[in-house]
Amino acid sequence: MTDQQENTRQGVLIAFEGIDGTGKSTQIRLLAEALEKSGQTVVATREPTSGKYGKRIRELYLNRETVSHEEELELFIADRREHVRDVIRPALLAGKVVLTDRYYLSTAAYQGALGHDPEKILTLNEAFAPEPDLVLMIMIPPSVGVHRIRTLRNETLNTFEQESGLEKVAAVYDSIEREYIRRIDGAGNIAEVHERVMLQVRECLGKRILTPVS
Ligand code: TYD
Repeated sequence: MTDQQENTRQGVLIAFEGIDGTGKSTQIRLLAEALEKSGQTVVATREPTSGKYGKRIRELYLNRETVSHEEELELFIADRREHVRDVIRPALLAGKVVLTDRYYLSTAAYQGALGHDPEKILTLNEAFAPEPDLVLMIMIPPSVGVHRIRTLRNETLNTFEQESGLEKVAAVYDSIEREYIRRIDGAGNIAEVHERVMLQVRECLGKRILTPVS
């Protein structure tokens, strides 16, 4: 860890990961509420961001083929550099709890599924992005993710969300090993998944960010 990274360790960084349709944003909202009740100041954020690179990335949802795989990877990295500099590091330095909907494991999984080496992507990110204290990886079969996007959100799939692609993405997620990762079963209703999230947060970070349950 660099000196600069060491300096950000006052706060806590939790990332939510998983394929599209896992319900990450709902779970982040519920976790944020629980942490706020415990007296924490929470910053909930997401990638792609709404900054200039994030906007460019969202334009690609309509047609991902207009950029090369290399350019796509560079856009996600540029977006993350901005996110780390402008949002994540300042919040960690101020002692806040940062909850991010996607972080660098998304790049390893999604751009890894395109053919980039996932380990190289992780190394590239680890050089500039603070290491998360905890990654909650919500696991569902790709067919379930696709079904949830189509029926529950009543949306058509964007080019990142096609089932064949998501199977590859899920396989890369399965293969990533880092000690801060906790895999959570995403099956069942929102309350059940929230319970599993709380269990992991309590186990991994309870002393730091949750008041003990009496
Ligand atoms: P998503 O979480 O669906 O964002 P939003 O709903 O706010 O538009 O993410 C958009 C897509 O971007 C998703 O399919 C995953 C993909 N993605 C990558 O391919 N690489 C990355 O590094 C990140 C952060 C996201």
